[in-house]
Amino acid sequence: MRILFLGDIIGRPGRNAVCERLPGLRERLAADFVVINGENAAGGFGITEQIFQDLRDAGADAITSGNHIWDQRDALVFIGRQSRLLRPLNYPPGTPGAGAGLFRAANGAEILVINVLGRIFMDPLDDPFQAVEREISACPLGRGADAILIDIHAEATSEKQALGAAFDGRASTVIGTHTHVPTADARVLPGGTAFITDAGMCGDFDSIIGMDKNEPIRRFTARIPSSRFAPAMGPATICGVLVETDDATGLALSIEPVRDGAPLGAGRPR
Ligand SMILES: [Fe+2]
Ligand SMILES: [Fe+2]
Repeated sequence: MRILFLGDIIGRPGRNAVCERLPGLRERLAADFVVINGENAAGGFGITEQIFQDLRDAGADAITSGNHIWDQRDALVFIGRQSRLLRPLNYPPGTPGAGAGLFRAANGAEILVINVLGRIFMDPLDDPFQAVEREISACPLGRGADAILIDIHAEATSEKQALGAAFDGRASTVIGTHTHVPTADARVLPGGTAFITDAGMCGDFDSIIGMDKNEPIRRFTARIPSSRFAPAMGPATICGVLVETDDATGLALSIEPVRDGAPLGAGRPR
């Protein structure tokens, strides 16, 4: 089974790039299932139902999220009718929506997608390790699901690597998101779980993590906010990974970085 995962979509440039290029990318990579992190798709903050639908129409089978999931307040309502939008699993009991879902892929296989938030340098939440343990115990790889994908949305590289190691051999892939910066450590762990610390973003890399550079620089220097953060509006690069799993075991055979668009750091002609 071939699973395509794309990192956080940042605003309109990221959205347009994914909506225009995902159908071709999906076909070229022969992906059976596509997961995209959509937490920054609406102007950098959250996701609307229309954007969710546009991403579904472009070929996304499931949309994961993170700490920005409720930035567009409507998400609290529409997540109730859109089971393919996942919010982090380890929010308190009673939070709308679900943090995990079992979906049928194009090849007929069933894939369990889990979205969980880290706790280091982030708002306090329930233990992500215990939350994932509960889901995977209830729906184990090879018996409950043909493949299991975990999106660990976290700041600290150590926490993401620890989650990958803790579930090595019990998930097909553990993929980090949230920093918007792709890491160069995509690999299959010893137990057979494909891992990357961060998949990167779908956005304009001539930016500070997808945002126009001016306001972040002002806040780091003057320490006084002077305007809202806004997405950088140049051409977006699509960043993600392609994971291939063994249909017999659900474990990973390979993980490859995916890049589509301008090379990172290419900038723009002045
Ligand atoms: Fe993000
Ligand atoms: Fe985030």
